[in-house]
Amino acid sequence: MIQLLPYDLERSFEVYLSLIHEAFEASGRLDHDFETFALGCRARLTDWLRRDDAFLRELRVDGRTVGLVEAVVNKQCQPQISTLVVTKSFRRRGLALKLEQAALDFFRHRGIATIVLNVAASNTGALAFYLRSNWKEIGAGPYPGSIRLQKSASF
Ligand SMILES: CC(C)(COP(=O)(O)OP(=O)(O)OC[C@H]1O[C@@H](n2cnc3c(N)ncnc32)[C@H](O)[C@@H]1OP(=O)(O)O)[C@@H](O)C(=O)NCCC(=O)NCCS
Repeated sequence: MIQLLPYDLERSFEVYLSLIHEAFEASGRLDHDFETFALGCRARLTDWLRRDDAFLRELRVDGRTVGLVEAVVNKQCQPQISTLVVTKSFRRRGLALKLEQAALDFFRHRGIATIVLNVAASNTGALAFYLRSNWKEIGAGPYPGSIRLQKSASF
């Protein structure tokens, strides 16, 4: 059974961290970046869970959390998918497409037309996924070696 559920920090925080670790690993950002990120992670998620412009969903397969998506209006006031990850052993089953679609639906229902995200140019798997899903490159991302992609929420 596949379920898409709001984050439950009490139940799943450690799983979220390990999934986010996989995303940092895929992006080549494990060095010190992840440690810094992990330190502030619970506070950041707690803050996002209070906001009505943030969309945090975990994907469970037969009760096991195997993927997540985090979408939020960023500091530049742009709607952004900030994290999208499916654990290695559950990839290539269309699960990321479900998570991405749920985030796009969330923004579309708020009348938002355009979503952005950043991906490491070296993260060829993620890049292939996004291009297959019709995201378009619009320039360099905010961190070294990253690319900024954009997609219409109503696509
Ligand atoms: C990118 C990621 C989220 C894709 O998750 P997924 O559940 O495997 O993706 P899906 O099964 O929904 O893929 C849909 C389609 O995208 C394309 N695709 C997905 N992963 C791909 C890969 N590694 N290489 C080439 N194409 C890929 C394929 O066309 C795939 O369809 P197919 O399996 O029928 O060929 C996953 O690889 C991941 O979690 N990576 C690590 C975290 C990460 O890099 N996140 C993005 C950071 S911005």
